[in-house]
Amino acid sequence: EKGGYDYFMLKEIAEQPKAVADTLLGRIDVNGRLVLDEVRIPAHVLREIDKIVIVACGTAFHAGMIAKYAIEHWTRIPCEIELASEFRYRDPILDPRTLVIAISQSGETMDTLMALRHAREQGSRVLAICNTNGSTIPRESDAVLYTHAGPEVAVASTKAFLTQLVACYLVALYLGQVRGTKWGDEIHSLVRELSDIAKEVEEVLETMEPVRELARSLKDKNTVLFLGRHVGYPVALEGALKLKELAYMHAEGFAAGELKHGPIALIENDLPVVVVVPSPRGRSVLHDKIVSNIQEIRARGARTIVIAEEGDEAVVPYADHLIRIPATPTLLQPLVATVPLQVFACELATARGNEVDQPRNLAKSVTVE
Ligand code: F6R
Repeated sequence: EKGGYDYFMLKEIAEQPKAVADTLLGRIDVNGRLVLDEVRIPAHVLREIDKIVIVACGTAFHAGMIAKYAIEHWTRIPCEIELASEFRYRDPILDPRTLVIAISQSGETMDTLMALRHAREQGSRVLAICNTNGSTIPRESDAVLYTHAGPEVAVASTKAFLTQLVACYLVALYLGQVRGTKWGDEIHSLVRELSDIAKEVEEVLETMEPVRELARSLKDKNTVLFLGRHVGYPVALEGALKLKELAYMHAEGFAAGELKHGPIALIENDLPVVVVVPSPRGRSVLHDKIVSNIQEIRARGARTIVIAEEGDEAVVPYADHLIRIPATPTLLQPLVATVPLQVFACELATARGNEVDQPRNLAKSVTVE
């Protein structure tokens, strides 16, 4: 049932605060320690892990890209992320000290399943992050951490993505906890911040009307570009993917630092460019570089759509449209920054007369390789 919404996608976007809270539920104890008993990989094994490889497809791949930043920063374990469809064909280096994390909403994606089978054949442990109880990917993995997003019906993934991120953060922080990394104090404050995230997602959802209006005004455009840096880069890729699959528009995400290496040639008059701006309080160097990027593209005619933290005044002079998100720690920003992009794509799809829940040529679970 759509629960009063026109589309499942709208319902699922609205359910995100609850989905995020449910994924955290029971996994943090009163002392702020992580309790992931379901991850049945013994602590001594996790302490010996010397490499993590994440495999996933589509939106889940973007969650994995973000997870890499968190895992490496919080645990200092080298972490790779690879498209599941590419993984086994390049003869990846895997052994029993490699932890493979397979992320999948459906748990039935054939590319991801084949990647994890390959990893297990090489003796690596596989941890699944999955939304569908008892599906094939968790059944074939050594352990599973379920995202508790509830059933996701719309083909385009929304709440599953946010809960995949939460699950990845939990795994990263748990690894930090088990291995006693030097980020001990930071882990505690991050766990607290994570507990506040549902409320912040709710705040974002309450301010989406201008985003919908903006989306409708762009319905006759052919192209939209997305720029981001650090964890904002996968967010840009996710924004572009949502727009492709729902609005059938040409949409591309770039790492903002790559602009000058080619993509800036695409900028022309009135081209909409969405820019995800990192917190000025966190990695301020990155923030300042992105602000320069916004200036550069605007000077070349781009119509800038800027997603920036509340209180970030530096972006104001260069934003044709400004979308505010609550202040969060840098690594958690994707949880709030992605939401406006989901709403944007959904509204553009509607404005263009597309079928939101069932985009053409797509299926909810892709069970062929
Ligand atoms: C995008 C989307 C797809 C899936 C991808 C992986 O909105 O839904 O890109 O994310 O097919 O699917 P799962 O997570 O089920 O393995």
